[in-house]
Amino acid sequence: AISESHLLQGVCGLEYDPTLSSTSGKILVKGGTVVNALHKEVADVYIQDGVIASVRPNIIVSDDVTILDATGKYVMPGGIDPHTHLSMEFMGTETIDDFFTGQAAALAGGTTMNIDFVIPVNGNLSAGFESYMNKAKNSVMDYGFHMAVTRWDETVSEDMEVMVKEKGINSFKFFMAYKGSLMINDELLLQALKRCKTLGALAMVHAENGDAVAEGQRKMIALGITGPEGHALSRPPMLEGEATARAIRLASFVNTPLYVVHVMSIDATEEIAKAKMSGQKVIGEPVVSGLVLDDSWLWDPDFTTAAKYVMSPPLRKSGHDRALQAALSTGILQLVGTDHCTFNSTQKTLGIDDFRKIPNGLNGIEERMHLVWDVLVESGQISVTDYVRITSTECARIFNIYPRKGAILEGSDADLIILNPNASFKISAASHHSRSDTNVYEGMTGKGKVEVTISGGRIVWDGELKVIPGSGKYIKMPPFGYLFDGIEKADSADLSTLRSSNTRSRPAT
Ligand code: URP
Ligand code: ZN
Ligand code: ZN
Ligand code: ZN
Repeated sequence: AISESHLLQGVCGLEYDPTLSSTSGKILVKGGTVVNALHKEVADVYIQDGVIASVRPNIIVSDDVTILDATGKYVMPGGIDPHTHLSMEFMGTETIDDFFTGQAAALAGGTTMNIDFVIPVNGNLSAGFESYMNKAKNSVMDYGFHMAVTRWDETVSEDMEVMVKEKGINSFKFFMAYKGSLMINDELLLQALKRCKTLGALAMVHAENGDAVAEGQRKMIALGITGPEGHALSRPPMLEGEATARAIRLASFVNTPLYVVHVMSIDATEEIAKAKMSGQKVIGEPVVSGLVLDDSWLWDPDFTTAAKYVMSPPLRKSGHDRALQAALSTGILQLVGTDHCTFNSTQKTLGIDDFRKIPNGLNGIEERMHLVWDVLVESGQISVTDYVRITSTECARIFNIYPRKGAILEGSDADLIILNPNASFKISAASHHSRSDTNVYEGMTGKGKVEVTISGGRIVWDGELKVIPGSGKYIKMPPFGYLFDGIEKADSADLSTLRSSNTRSRPAT
């Protein structure tokens, strides 16, 4: 149950305590197994002034250093969630978690950075950026931004350059769905892909065929299907597969890297795998809900229960979940996000008579690290090092902030967690830190527990949250990340093939 103080203050125990020190002390994490994406070893980690000062066995320190014993536990880079929506105005309402409550929840679950999506204001990117910088003022952990592009003109094109060169944005998201609001057409997508390439910014797509979704929705309503199950029935996996394939082809035509967000189906995964085999640079991001849930919930006779599972692309039939896990563990998909986009049960009732009006989105920012550990590491599908790669390091590399983020190395930011593999977690709305009154993972339990989270060199979670509003920093992300390596060479190779094939086919005179 949610208490009144949750509603007033946001999160239990989260009222700002002014006695908390914002200066980061000195911490020694002793005797744990330090895990990076490619290597693990037993070592101590010494933290000073918000950065990792030293990583080696048997570090001796003075009396003023806080010592945390991590013997028998894993010391890992804090999670980076590449896909969240905090304080997002969407479908006639605004997500219940803002940067304060959403990030506090993240820290309690071992995530120390999120990358959120700036939504332009009336299509204007600069206004959108200012608006989101303002929304993020109460941040309690570091964060970065992607930016959605929802219309196309000279101003948008010029603003993209300003965002990349001055504001620290290196990725733009294009919605191929949500017809009538955020959706863009192929003409815009093509222009934007070209612009992204020039700027060294990564193009991201929400891949569903929005026109066909609108048609599917009309069909369901005509059949008298107005409940949450209509959401799944109106936008089947083939529409995700089609849009994924189309975005991949257009990105290939332009020769620019592509990042497919919230991959939910086998259909989309197969398109990504196929593109990879042809040598194309495509990144696929499943989200934790897609890995552990299926669409059966949408048929629950209780509207409140069913509606909390409405997100887009929708949860799929059982089988897609396990295929996504397999694709992630074998490298077809690269990293895992959440698409944390929470609406409480009251907000979800906006669609009580019509599933098309149920605000799309569900939680995960606090649960991702635990669920991925349990479902992939505990089950034996991936190694502990791969866990670090898919929850943190790969995200830092793709968005060009590695090794400041995503690593436990000398000089990296002191964002890290201590995970006890022998303790267990239990998920419930009664104990979570989101402002929502529901949780889509309600009742789930598993092995592996984040016992300590250190953010910016401070202990912010040790069973209790110790967060300071405004302490989170905006992390600028520079363009031309590793996915752009070789793009120019491939272009000139293409060009010379084109020229030589033309000359060869010309008849001799
Ligand atoms: O249902 C979802 N995914 N809501 C958030 C917006 C988006 O498409 O990412
Ligand atoms: Zn609480
Ligand atoms: Zn989306
Ligand atoms: Zn999203």
